[in-house]
Amino acid sequence: MMETQPIFRLLDVEKVYRIDRSGWARLGGAPPRRLAALDGVRLTVEPGDSVALVGESGSGKSTLLRVLLGLTEASNGRALYREDDIETLADDKRRAFQRDVAMVYQDARGSLNPRLSVLDLVGEPLRQHALCPASALHRRVVSLLERVGLPAETVHRYPSQLSGGQVRRVAIARALASEPRVIVADEAVSGLDVSTQAQLLNLLRGLQQEMGLTLLFITHDLAVASYLCRRIAVMYLGRIVETGPTREVLRQPLHPYTRALLEASPRFFQPIAETLAGEIPSPIDLPPGCRFAGRCPRAAADCRAHEPPLGPAGHDRDVACLHPLVD
Ligand SMILES: Nc1ncnc2c1ncn2[C@@H]1O[C@H](COP(=O)(O)OP(=O)(O)OP(=O)(O)O)[C@@H](O)[C@H]1O
Ligand code: SF4
Ligand SMILES: [Mg+2]
Repeated sequence: MMETQPIFRLLDVEKVYRIDRSGWARLGGAPPRRLAALDGVRLTVEPGDSVALVGESGSGKSTLLRVLLGLTEASNGRALYREDDIETLADDKRRAFQRDVAMVYQDARGSLNPRLSVLDLVGEPLRQHALCPASALHRRVVSLLERVGLPAETVHRYPSQLSGGQVRRVAIARALASEPRVIVADEAVSGLDVSTQAQLLNLLRGLQQEMGLTLLFITHDLAVASYLCRRIAVMYLGRIVETGPTREVLRQPLHPYTRALLEASPRFFQPIAETLAGEIPSPIDLPPGCRFAGRCPRAAADCRAHEPPLGPAGHDRDVACLHPLVD
């Protein structure tokens, strides 16, 4: 049966951390300050779609995933999985959610228990969801490993005996084990050499197309986003500032931040342009108005007074800017 309802919907999701002067979350003492890691995020992910979430470090990408997976409670707004609130899923729906939505973590090695062999790591979801009789477990794990390009003998290894690329493959095999409908991956290929990166991207793209998986992929890298994902959402300081079909957004960005990100991407034989003036501001107690105003070459007086909402910009695109780029 063709699915029609959205896989995920985020409705004005906020995630606020309260922090004291010395650093991370603590209550008491001086009045805590607000760090808005997510500040009014709206996003819809349709079945079978592939969506890249891009933005500088600290823009809230991992926090958004944690809310989507029910690992962090939103301070405000709603996060829905097929129209049910993720935070309050009933037991049977929660089990189905845990099976249907698989995660590849930002720190793949850290996410795998170093004391378990690859057989146990990849076999765990199979056991947990009773997907395979014990007698067939070994064979099933080997076939999952082969699917991600690892030889059968890898089953006997431990994470410390694997290279960075192999660890990512094991993490992907483990994610596939529960026969998910959705894969959520946080920087799944960053920090790898280009050929391993290309192999893993081809693997993910193949799996997404063959199995009709829905893919939500976080990356710093616009080239990775454009290779893998049909849609893109650009985040800046806790907000989505531009979304749309990846190809069109990257060919003709409407938000000055998207353009700056594009111009700062390394290209062969060209110096990297220094287009983003200044540092990314702290997300603590932000001033009113557009949060990109301090770095934006198009900033005008009205930009410092009003926070631009994310609104339709034609051709299946949305932008949050009072003076979007037109050329
Ligand atoms: N537990 C926490 N307590 C306080 N602040 C936090 C906490 N977790 C994240 N933050 C802050 O929230 C903001 C968003 O963090 P997040 O990890 O979502 O960013 P990111 O876009 O994933 O960055 P990166 O690309 O570096 O992984 C940052 O300013 C971060 O310092
Ligand atoms: S609203 Fe103004 S400051 Fe913000 S991105 Fe658009 S032009 Fe720049
Ligand atoms: Mg992150």
